[in-house]
Amino acid sequence: MKENFLWGVAMSASQAEGGALLDGKGLVMDDVVSTVHNERFQATANLEIALNKTYDYYPSHQAIDFYHRYPEDIKRFAELGIKVLRTSINWARIYPKGIEEEPNEAGLTFYDKVFDECLKYGIEPVVTLNHFNTPLEFYYSGGWKNRELIHHFVKYAKTVFTRYKDKVKYWMTINEINMILSLPLVGGLINPTLEENVDFAKYQGAHYQLVASALAVKVGKEINPNFQIGCMMGAGVTYPYSCRPEDVWEAFQANEEEYALIDVQVKGQYPHLFLSKLKHKGLELDMTADDLAILEENTVDFVGLSYYNTRLTAADKSSLQTSGANLMGTLKNPYLKSNDFGWQSDPLGFRITLNELYSRYHLPLFIVENGYSAIETCDGDPIQDDYRIDYIRDHLKQLKAAMEDGVDIIGYTPWAGIDIISASTGVIEKRYGLIYVDLDDEGNGSLERTPKKSYYWYQNVVKTNGEEL
Ligand code: BG6
Repeated sequence: MKENFLWGVAMSASQAEGGALLDGKGLVMDDVVSTVHNERFQATANLEIALNKTYDYYPSHQAIDFYHRYPEDIKRFAELGIKVLRTSINWARIYPKGIEEEPNEAGLTFYDKVFDECLKYGIEPVVTLNHFNTPLEFYYSGGWKNRELIHHFVKYAKTVFTRYKDKVKYWMTINEINMILSLPLVGGLINPTLEENVDFAKYQGAHYQLVASALAVKVGKEINPNFQIGCMMGAGVTYPYSCRPEDVWEAFQANEEEYALIDVQVKGQYPHLFLSKLKHKGLELDMTADDLAILEENTVDFVGLSYYNTRLTAADKSSLQTSGANLMGTLKNPYLKSNDFGWQSDPLGFRITLNELYSRYHLPLFIVENGYSAIETCDGDPIQDDYRIDYIRDHLKQLKAAMEDGVDIIGYTPWAGIDIISASTGVIEKRYGLIYVDLDDEGNGSLERTPKKSYYWYQNVVKTNGEEL
């Protein structure tokens, strides 16, 4: 691996921090939904369900209490020998309702402390501005389909860019920006059940996110020209179920849809197929000439991505089996193995995805999420998570192969450095971490941390710069 390859680990604010109601923080959607055992899937498709109820347990309120335990956790991360910690800032900690003119100083101070703690060990924070953390207040005015969010997002970006300009160099604007197209509530605080025309709402929301992201690039570069500001895609190519041209066309369109927003962030222009789709659907978005100029002039420096799996589609899916996957469902691929949660592993698909992204964008890639979830229990000794080691090893082999193919890769941060709350299910039992956290799905547990076998294995990977896998 090249000398300056950035080895790290990943996590996100509301999945780890807790302290959801402390020090002036406002609410985000995560703070009002419970777990999969208590309507989370239904509520993240129609938030009214959650807003009209009180649950016994809200996983984000305490999460793994990184809010108080960050010194201990960062010390453990440092002992891995890593160079970067990929995390996010919770927007509602800085602007509780999003609409305030002045930021919440307590929120800014918290991230000062976290970043300083990282820097003390020579760990560079890699920071996402919005990892599913749009302040909940905006839900009541239509979420991201409301143009006003552009102004509020840019105000927030400006505040944190200014505050942390000497502490953070690598930024990403919006986590998995393509999420808004498959799950508009999670990606854009847009409730599809309340929309007369869901397609209009989500594409409009996506456009405003793109403008907000481009303006963030603009102000970021003004504040510190050395910033590296990237986009972030939930990646994983879609395969055709067969070589029937109808299946190939279906897969082609699915891929183009996933790339469309990244195309805008990298190339500054909407791709033709996306524009033609809007036209055919009769969607006349609010997309001004100024917007288009902003998009064209403020493109990103790198492409951040998550990769968990590839996807599979067919023209006629009716008789085919489905499978779980990141971002959206997929058809089950008979050639791939599944984990405890039905997500299928496809290491070669990783090499294909990396090559495809690099051929398309010619920008360095940053793999900021890739990992394996499993149900695990700990008796005090390190969990023997060989399945996770196998998964990460197999993916790192393909990452190396992609680099030999000529793909430029900045770094790799497995999801996750430590067990955190699962974004889709809200449970901790869907564990991704290299470090185990004693916590169950009702919020019970000592929160004690115990490194797993994969932690020690990854420590050696980092030490040998990827030579020993
Ligand atoms: C990505 C998200 O979609 O996948 C993370 O950026 C998330 O926030 C990860 O945790 C894994 O998904 P899940 O639902 O298994 O936690």
